[in-house]
Amino acid sequence: MTDALTNEPPLLKWPEAGNSRVPYRAFADAEIHAAEQKRIFQGETWQILCLADEIPNPGDYKTTYAGETPVIVVRDENGDINAFENRCVHKGALVCLKDRGNAKTLTCVYHNWVYGLKGELISAAFAKGVNGRGGMPDDFNAKDHRMRPLRTTEHCGLVFGTFSETVMPLAEFIGPDILERVERVLNRPLRILGYHTQILNNNWKLYVENVKDTYHAGLLHLFFATFRLNRLASEGGVVVDPTGGNHASYSKRRTIHANAEYDESKLRASRDDYRLADPSLLESFDEFGDGINVQILSVFPNFILQQVENSIAVRQILPKGVGRTELNWTVLGFQDDDEKTTKMRLKQANLIGPAGYISMEDGAVGNFVQRGIPGALEETSIIEMGGRDHISDNTRTTEASVRGFWAAYRTHMGL
Ligand SMILES: [Fe+2]
Repeated sequence: MTDALTNEPPLLKWPEAGNSRVPYRAFADAEIHAAEQKRIFQGETWQILCLADEIPNPGDYKTTYAGETPVIVVRDENGDINAFENRCVHKGALVCLKDRGNAKTLTCVYHNWVYGLKGELISAAFAKGVNGRGGMPDDFNAKDHRMRPLRTTEHCGLVFGTFSETVMPLAEFIGPDILERVERVLNRPLRILGYHTQILNNNWKLYVENVKDTYHAGLLHLFFATFRLNRLASEGGVVVDPTGGNHASYSKRRTIHANAEYDESKLRASRDDYRLADPSLLESFDEFGDGINVQILSVFPNFILQQVENSIAVRQILPKGVGRTELNWTVLGFQDDDEKTTKMRLKQANLIGPAGYISMEDGAVGNFVQRGIPGALEETSIIEMGGRDHISDNTRTTEASVRGFWAAYRTHMGL
């Protein structure tokens, strides 16, 4: 058997059982990790780069990553958003060292090579030499060089980028069922309320699995179940797009009632005698008029949109080596929020985030897996809850969207 893309031996022999079995090697292998950079992050995907509001004015820039490739996103003199690899064409140094700023030109500190806001090389220091000596050869022309561009596109205030010339338009890439759920949440002009960032000591795909895994929410997250925000018995489901890579899970809070499955099986989440000292933490309102109090959405490979009550955030998952991941959260409100609503959102922001009452465990559990698998790289996980396919379902007691991720992953990776 050979690799579908290179005709070389495959990086990984996928189990015949398909997407309900994932080899642990996928989370721990340097060669696979390197191939992901090429085939996924520099391949046929759109990746979240920033929010348009983060760079409102000409010259505003922000640095980020497409996978592990450093990227600059900048608004140019015409108001257009450009993105290009943050790498000087001369010797490969980062050109922008700051997280964000405003500039008329971008200059590499190493040898003062200067770039315009489209990433084009304007000049190289001492190109004509000094006192008639040295300098670049006569046929060196700055116009022949530029930082490698990404194409960008904006939707609902989100800026996505791609290195691909051929990937389908973003709306098509996300698909109508998931796109409509992006638009449901990001339905008016945004206001950025703040940021969290955290390092996860696990492979990036373990966090993607976690986000898509509706099975664990009421089990791992004691806060969710204890204070009755979300239990698997509440009305909800998962929507998985045909590629498998994009999903949205949703649930309705007001359908929750004490339920026998939790109590009888003596799950850790069965305590009903806990009460919050300050119940205002859980004050919320039905913002979108549909009763859905939790919607978690992902777009392959690394974009997450979260609505937990009125806590809205965009998450960007960035691999940092095989066993390390950076997770960036942008916490959002809307420009038409009054002060009371903003305060409510900020209070609810304590629920979700690196130290969130609900989601804190997600920052740890990927590392539990990473530490569990070193002796079992030829073994696989079992992902059979709710069946073996990856189609939408009106239950969250399913791992359909996790299997969907692996379906898309295998397509992109040629596995
Ligand atoms: Fe979780």
